[in-house]
Amino acid sequence: MTATQPVSNEERLRRAGHRGAVVWITGLSGAGKTTLALAAERALFERGCRVFVLDGDKVRNGLCADLGFSLPERSENIRRIGEVARLFYEAGQIVLVSAISPLQADRERARALIPSPYFLEVYCRCPLAVCEQRDPKGLYRKARAGLLPEFTGISSPYEEPSSPELIVDSTTSSVDEEVARLLDALERKQILSALA
Ligand code: ADX
Repeated sequence: MTATQPVSNEERLRRAGHRGAVVWITGLSGAGKTTLALAAERALFERGCRVFVLDGDKVRNGLCADLGFSLPERSENIRRIGEVARLFYEAGQIVLVSAISPLQADRERARALIPSPYFLEVYCRCPLAVCEQRDPKGLYRKARAGLLPEFTGISSPYEEPSSPELIVDSTTSSVDEEVARLLDALERKQILSALA
């Protein structure tokens, strides 16, 4: 091994005990994406995994602070998140993305950056009426009052995933159940058990 030999994926895998992966959680605002991402992060971390959450709200405070909510700006937001997720993936991490990511084409572009089967699209399905009722940030109320233009589900589109690896529904299952199903999906793709 020479001093400048790049660290290979295999070496990273051996060190971490699992593969890198991108878990892309999409859904309406208030559907439970961040809750699922944080609970899955905790569960994976407790298992000793290298795991990190890339959350739309957080990314928009920094890397994407220059972007608004028009469709082209959302596409650019998702493009950047996809590229950052790719870097985390290459570093051997399991990255949990939680972003509305309303357009199928943008999600497909993010998927294309990661070798199969290490990109998992998770659809956090929740009826608009329920998201609106929860309205944790009061944004639906503002959108309905016409104070927030281009709000997803109200005045801006959301395209449901056509073939996600996993669908979770916070109106019918608990967060613990959702996390268990997600970990199960990671097991099935031999992401967690790569060295077992
Ligand atoms: S995305 O559409 O580009 O993927 P992202 O997930 O990064 O969106 O950010 C969504 C968050 O921004 C929402 O959870 C909400 O807090 C906030 N937000 C502010 N304005 C809007 C809007 N017009 N539509 C949707 N979310 C908005």
